[in-house]
Amino acid sequence: FTHVRYNVQRLGFAAVTTEDIAFFNGLLPGSVVTDPDILEASNVDWLRTMRGRSQLLLRPRTTEEVSQILRYCNSRNLAVNPQGGNTGLVGGSVPVFDEIIISTVQMDNIINFNSTTGVLTCEAGCILENLNNYLEEQDFIMPLDLGSKGSCHIGGNVSTNAGGLRLLRYGSLRGTVLGLEVVLADGAILNCLSSLRKDNTGYDLKQLFIGAEGTLGIITAVSILCPRKSPAVNVALLGCDSFEKILDIFKESKSMLGEILSAFEFLDYSCREVVCEHLKLRNPLQETPFYILIETSGSNDDHDQEKLSHFLEKVMTSGLVADGTVATEENKIKALWALRERITEALVHDGFVYKYDISLPLERFHEIVIDMRNRLGVRAKRVVGYGHLGDGNLHLNIVSPAFDQQLLDSIEPYLYEWIAQHCGSISAEHGLGFKKKNCIYFSKSRAAVHMMQQMKAILDPKGILNPYKTLPAFTQ
Ligand code: FAD
Ligand code: MLT
Ligand code: ZN
Repeated sequence: FTHVRYNVQRLGFAAVTTEDIAFFNGLLPGSVVTDPDILEASNVDWLRTMRGRSQLLLRPRTTEEVSQILRYCNSRNLAVNPQGGNTGLVGGSVPVFDEIIISTVQMDNIINFNSTTGVLTCEAGCILENLNNYLEEQDFIMPLDLGSKGSCHIGGNVSTNAGGLRLLRYGSLRGTVLGLEVVLADGAILNCLSSLRKDNTGYDLKQLFIGAEGTLGIITAVSILCPRKSPAVNVALLGCDSFEKILDIFKESKSMLGEILSAFEFLDYSCREVVCEHLKLRNPLQETPFYILIETSGSNDDHDQEKLSHFLEKVMTSGLVADGTVATEENKIKALWALRERITEALVHDGFVYKYDISLPLERFHEIVIDMRNRLGVRAKRVVGYGHLGDGNLHLNIVSPAFDQQLLDSIEPYLYEWIAQHCGSISAEHGLGFKKKNCIYFSKSRAAVHMMQQMKAILDPKGILNPYKTLPAFTQ
């Protein structure tokens, strides 16, 4: 367990007293946790790089309870940390000091699903995979899919504006989320739980809470547009010997697979090594410097197979692909996906992970991985590149046997300056959380950050919602 440097002072919030605990016990009998052993899991993040010291975890069951909790906390000046599945990768989901953790774990009811419109309305604590399983029974799917699907909550997904493996096809949550119910810092309930596709009446307030990482309100319910489940799914894993060829394959896939293309994921050779070494996964292809995973999803098997085989024939015969395999059967599809989806898990077995989630123009996509390898040399155990190439989103991860401050100083701010210089984003889909909030200026202007701080001050004047996260401290 390695702490990231905490370089932050506790703000002047009240500390939890026995009277406060008595109040919460009265409000939420059986849903107030003070047992340090149970609290431990909620105080430590998924990467095990951050540890808070909260002594109170609340597990409300209803929006009304969330509202009462926040009304009380706001009046008492008690800071809170909203928490979903605690799979966030930027330290936003765990307290920094003694903030009260408000977990959505007990808010996991499906409210309604309309199989004509495909609109699902559910509570914020529903686990993504459970929602997807529920929808699959009715021939629908969730419009998003993440490697953390077995634990993350839909409220957490919306709060981080999570991207993931299906964004290429179904777009971002900013488009698929149709409505939200949110409890504001003072306990007021904002009901924007619309199921309408079109609604241009005034400002679209729900957008404020999408990607706000729990700093503007607690999301209690979500209404989301879900696509039909495609009966025909194929996955191809292709090995490639240059990055330029991958870009050519991408262009070709857009033109030849068109509307059935549902994922275009990238991993380099070092990722393949790490999943094979630590998770004992088998790579069916010969060794090549790069791999891409292409998924097609459509409504007609023959049509899709025909399109895919024309595409594969073209990229194989033109020398763009060195080796490849195709899966049509569910188990084989899952095995190929595991090589990509389980990289995150394999990396934590490898050592301390310095995690970067970057948007870049595609022509620069892999340059920074090579650059970092050269820059860090043997001081890094591993430098890997993977990600959602179809969305221009690279995951650059660096591993060392244990946390190494000198290595970190060689990575930052160099990397962030490089990203800014090439007009990228320093956080594509994971958010800023605690770890990256001060880096916001590499991607946003001072004026933009100032406006965000003003919005925060209006919605949460006492700053009780997820303090120390997302935005740098307000300076006039
Ligand atoms: P948490 O981690 O609990 O919280 C995340 C943030 O949201 C925190 O700031 C928290 O305070 C806030 N929050 C949580 N619930 C609420 C709520 N109801 N109201 C207000 N604020 C709230 N991310 C991607 O974008 N794409 C990926 O492909 C992806 N793959 C992953 C794979 C693995 C193996 C892991 C471990 C993580 C991955 N992630 C990915 C990151 C993470 O899973 C997502 O950010 C996810 O959306 C977080 O959901 P959660 O419920 O775990 O939220
Ligand atoms: C992924 O795409 O695998 C996730 O965003 C997690 C990660 O970046 O490791
Ligand atoms: Zn990702």
